[in-house]
Amino acid sequence: MIALVTGGNRGIGKEVCRQLASHGYTVLLTARSRERAGSTAAELGENVRPLRLDVTSPEDIEAAAREVEGRFGRLDVLVNNAAITYDTWQSAVEADLDVVREALETNLYGAWRLTQALVPSLREGKRPRVVNVSSGAGSLTEMGGGTPAYTISKVALNALTRMLAAELRGSRILVNAVCPGWVATDMGGPGGRPVADGAAGIVWAATLPGNGPTGGFFRDRRPVPW
Ligand SMILES: NC(=O)c1ccc[n+]([C@@H]2O[C@H](COP(=O)([O-])OP(=O)(O)OC[C@H]3O[C@@H](n4cnc5c(N)ncnc54)[C@H](OP(=O)(O)O)[C@@H]3O)[C@@H](O)[C@H]2O)c1
Repeated sequence: MIALVTGGNRGIGKEVCRQLASHGYTVLLTARSRERAGSTAAELGENVRPLRLDVTSPEDIEAAAREVEGRFGRLDVLVNNAAITYDTWQSAVEADLDVVREALETNLYGAWRLTQALVPSLREGKRPRVVNVSSGAGSLTEMGGGTPAYTISKVALNALTRMLAAELRGSRILVNAVCPGWVATDMGGPGGRPVADGAAGIVWAATLPGNGPTGGFFRDRRPVPW
């Protein structure tokens, strides 16, 4: 089984790579720095292979899709984990829209373009799953003000999850959004729970059985309100 994880060099993405490898997956640990992809993959063991991938680069995405197709001829798991700009410093009323646009390039368009490029390989997968790493910040039900760039990007990622799941229904590709909870990473800051706990729900969605859900939004394996 072959998995590709974006932003695999640190934080939750790195832990997802570690856990998928321990489930027996061959993991393509991707990172925007070739060096960090290499050193992190080496640290995680022989089932983990490095690949340079900046999700904002269409050229990188094309090259990654070609690499997956050429090397394996299929993909079983795609985890769209890479994200930026937890913008606690700004409000929707006064947001710098250039910052919002930049966040969307990674958090939405990066995940979207990469998924588009990999759907042909996913169609050949044995148990194909797409996991969009989202956030409770993207829940309309619970929404208040603040973190506008990040929040809008996760709302949009959730919408993308719904559309992809609907359009791919019947293809065997299950597409779900997962919130990892508050996790102690560079983005989450101190005080959050351990990365292993945050990654576990993502790995659950990446390894769902054939009769598993699609088009859902989960935290710790349980549905959360959109
Ligand atoms: N931590 C939390 O409490 C929390 C809560 C809810 C949701 N989440 C979500 O969980 C996911 C992982 O978060 P985290 O806490 O692990 O964040 P993190 O520690 O800040 O790590 C982010 C990762 O994304 C990568 N990345 C950023 N821009 C990229 C790009 N253009 N192309 C490829 N990779 C890129 C980073 O690479 P570099 O090292 O090169 O910067 C890094 O590997 C995100 O989707 C986040 O929104 C986190």
